[in-house]
Amino acid sequence: MTDIVYLNGDFLPIEEARIPVLDRGFIFGDGVYEVIPTYQARPFRLSAHLIRLQHSLDRLRITNPHSTEQWSELIAAMIAKNPNPHNPNQSIYLQITRGVAKRDHAYPSNITPTVFLMSSPLVTPSADLIASGVRCVTAQDNRWLNCDIKSIALLGNCMLRQQSADIGATETILFRGDELTEASSSNVFVVKDGVLLTPPKSNLILSGITYDVVIEIARAREFQIEVRPVSTAEVFSADEIWITSSTKEVLAVTELDGKPVGDGQPGFLFKRMLALYQQFKQEHAD
Ligand SMILES: Cc1ncc(COP(=O)(O)O)c(C=O)c1O
Repeated sequence: MTDIVYLNGDFLPIEEARIPVLDRGFIFGDGVYEVIPTYQARPFRLSAHLIRLQHSLDRLRITNPHSTEQWSELIAAMIAKNPNPHNPNQSIYLQITRGVAKRDHAYPSNITPTVFLMSSPLVTPSADLIASGVRCVTAQDNRWLNCDIKSIALLGNCMLRQQSADIGATETILFRGDELTEASSSNVFVVKDGVLLTPPKSNLILSGITYDVVIEIARAREFQIEVRPVSTAEVFSADEIWITSSTKEVLAVTELDGKPVGDGQPGFLFKRMLALYQQFKQEHAD
């Protein structure tokens, strides 16, 4: 089965999709992206993804090439064109770059953004991984100070992620100085003495869609939750640590830098949150 992608107005097999070498996405990483999970052909939290996309575009002064309705139609078309008999759930990747222009750091005027969408099967954590939890390592967050932009320029994230990949671990959890920020491609929550803690939104973290859902569920279900700076000491003495993202959903971290987190098993609050998250997904496809 061939993957059908969308490029600047056309649907075509992925092998046939081409971009000019002077695309600023290729030359400068000058573009933004979104990853939207779809369950049973329905995008999850589409409006939140499109709001975050607009934020990223605004920060880079790229004009949004499409209206909300056009994005919804494009995404629906991508889902329809990439059916998978083995998996009804897809991950829709969309990317916008500033467009093609002679190489010059300053933003060129009047160029047309490049729009690209592709679909892959959505692979969420296996039952085994949910039951065992995952291993993570920590590192200093040495990325730039615009982490709220969902930029395609992800080399900082890739270098940090590789530190965990090198030892077969799942994620690299990041600290800026003495404070938790996020992980290389996830947000982070910790549980300490029954209280759920996570850092507030800022330019130092990506405003995760899953992060928002987890906070929403926690508040609706009367978890004790504090959205405030979280110190390194709180992370290393946490009873539970969770990582969240659209594809990882909510995953328990059971080993950090080679030491068990809490009793080394996914915690009680994690199990409750994951069950509530799965229920929320069923009820809130939009
Ligand atoms: C750096 C970073 N933080 C957090 C997230 C989680 O965001 P979301 O829940 O919207 O997938 C991601 C997702 O890719 C990410 O790359």
